[in-house]
This record gives sequence, structure tokens and C-alpha cells, in this order.
Amino acid sequence: MSNKVGFVGAGFVGAEAARQVMSEGIANVALVDIMGDMAKGKALDLTESAPILKTSKHAIGGSSYELLKGCDVIVVTAGIPRKPGMSRDDLLKTNITITKQVCNGIKENAPGSIVIMVTNPLDAIVYVAQEFLKGICKVVGMAGALDSARFRTFLSMETGVSSDDIQAMVLGSHGDAMVPLVSSASISGIPAEQLIEEKRLDEIIERTQKGGGEIVSLLKTGSAYYAPGISVASMVRAIILDEKKIIPTCTELNGEYGEKNIFMGVPAVLGKGGVEKIIEVRLSEKEKKLWENSLEHVRELMHDSNKIMKNEKI
Ligand code: NAI
Repeated sequence: MSNKVGFVGAGFVGAEAARQVMSEGIANVALVDIMGDMAKGKALDLTESAPILKTSKHAIGGSSYELLKGCDVIVVTAGIPRKPGMSRDDLLKTNITITKQVCNGIKENAPGSIVIMVTNPLDAIVYVAQEFLKGICKVVGMAGALDSARFRTFLSMETGVSSDDIQAMVLGSHGDAMVPLVSSASISGIPAEQLIEEKRLDEIIERTQKGGGEIVSLLKTGSAYYAPGISVASMVRAIILDEKKIIPTCTELNGEYGEKNIFMGVPAVLGKGGVEKIIEVRLSEKEKKLWENSLEHVRELMHDSNKIMKNEKI
């Protein structure tokens, strides 16, 4: 693995993720954005923080995709974010067009890299990017890492126990149809269902599913970026440092969970090969229903994406 990670999109999430990657000393970073000077400015600002961070890592930035040369991992946040009242799916058309431009830049400058998509609507954009980069790059998506962090936070708030002691995952699609897993959630090994009553767990599931919207409605402009940024960085670190960590990741299923040719959030072992293994978790009857609903939602998104790509000749 090289010591350079690319970030296409140097907005709120991209810059926050890059800052985390650099400050943890994981890799040098390259920021690429259509707003080239903004990317260049943020890169210089990041590099100027290195003496205090006591890291030898640095950042470069601009509008040229050539900056991605030498990157083994590339994070894509380029796109427009969701505004209050706007669904993730409304973003689809604009962000598919942007994703194609970005994929062309990656194809030319960093073939063979592992690409982590973040742009929403996530499940559709991961699928679209993998179509554009077929046979050139492995593509995965970040959503489950963030949704799981939110789920753990709410379980921590409920129990008054440190979130560090809470193990819980969210699978499926990103958005209201996600699947927070209660049956395997635990608090220091104690099943969450033993400590929290069902009605409260249902409320926590719903808050997790609407977690993105809760922040959007408070911020008024734009969407969350601290937790998304650090979630991205955790995936980058697992891949670059070959950590073999289990992180819920949006990836293509090839028979796992009885599904094929569909991108879903599932627990995945992340290492230098990207997704090295998909872990199959036993779901409760209630979770199976949520999972089916999630599958349906992603199928619709993939169908809509195919239609847009065909009609608009993207
Ligand atoms: P932002 O608006 O701050 O950043 C987006 C950046 O993309 C901007 O700097 C913009 O100039 C750039 N950009 C637009 N078109 C481009 C192009 N053709 N080439 C290169 N750069 C281009 O938005 P933010 O808050 O960073 O969010 C980015 C995306 O991530 C949004 O789609 C948002 O919905 C999504 N998101 C996804 C999450 C997830 O869990 N998957 C969590 C949070 C955000």
C-alpha cells in the first residue's frame, strides 16, 4: 500500500475525513475538487497543521485529477448534499452525472485503486460507480460505519454506558430503510434486549434510521460531516493499515445473504484487499422484514439509476 489517499470532493465530509486521515498519520492526502483553489487552500491549511500534530504527513490539492496518481485508496464525496425536505433519491440524477466525471478521472490516474463512495444516494451511487469502473477498480460505499456509530450513540444515551462498551451494527441500505440489528447488539457482551425494553429499542431504531435527517433539520444548510468524516477515515485506516476490521460496508453481494448483483450494507472484513470477507449474521424475524424492505429500496434505486443512465445517455 502506498502512503497516499485521494479525496475527490473537498467539501465538509471530504475535508473532515482527510483531516482525520492526516492527523492520525495514516497517509498523505490529495484533495481534488472542481473548486480547485478551495481544495488547494484546504490542503495547505492541513499541511500547516502538521508541525503541531507532530506528523510528517502532508496534503496537496487542486482541480486536476492527476493529483490522484499514486493513490491506492480514493474517497469520493463529490456531489451536492441533501437540503432540508429533500430526499436522498432527489439527489440521484445530479450525482450520477458527477460520479461519471469523477470515475473517468480515477480511471485515467489511479486504475487499480480501492474506491470508497460516500456521495448520496449512497447505495445507487456505489452501484453506478462500480458500473463505470468495472474491471478497473474495486468500489465500496460508506454508510454502515456512520449509521452504526449513530446507533451505538443512541444506545449509549439510553443506558448511560460509554459508547465504547457498546457493540451494534446497522446493515442494509442507507436512509430510512436501513436495518439496525438489535438481536446482535450488546453492551459489554450483555444482549441489549436484556437491558432495554422493546418499546425503547423500537424508538432507538427509528431515531437511527432518521439520524441523517435529524442533523439536516438542525443544521438548516448541508448535512452531517464530523461523524461521516471519521467513519470514512476508519475505513481508510482499515484498508491502508490492513487491519482486518469488521466494518459495515456497502458492497456487492455474490450469493451472501442469498442475494446476487446487488449492493447492500453488510459486515465486512476490511484489509489491504478492500472487502476481504463478508460476514453473514443471523437476523431475527423482525430484522428479516426490514432487510427485505431494504433490498426492495436498493433494487428500486438501481432500476432508477439504470433508467437515468439510459435516458440521459450518461
Ligand atoms: P459539500 O457540498 O460540502 O462537498 C461536496 C464537494 O463536491 C464540493 O466541494 C463540490 O465543489 C464538490 N464537487 C461537486 N461536483 C464536483 C465534480 N464534478 N468534481 C469534483 N468535485 C465536485 O457536501 P458534503 O457535506 O461534503 O457531502 C458530500 C456528499 O456526501 C453528499 O452527497 C452527501 O449527501 C453525502 N454524504 C453521505 C454520507 C453517507 O453516510 N454516505 C454522510 C454524509 C454526507
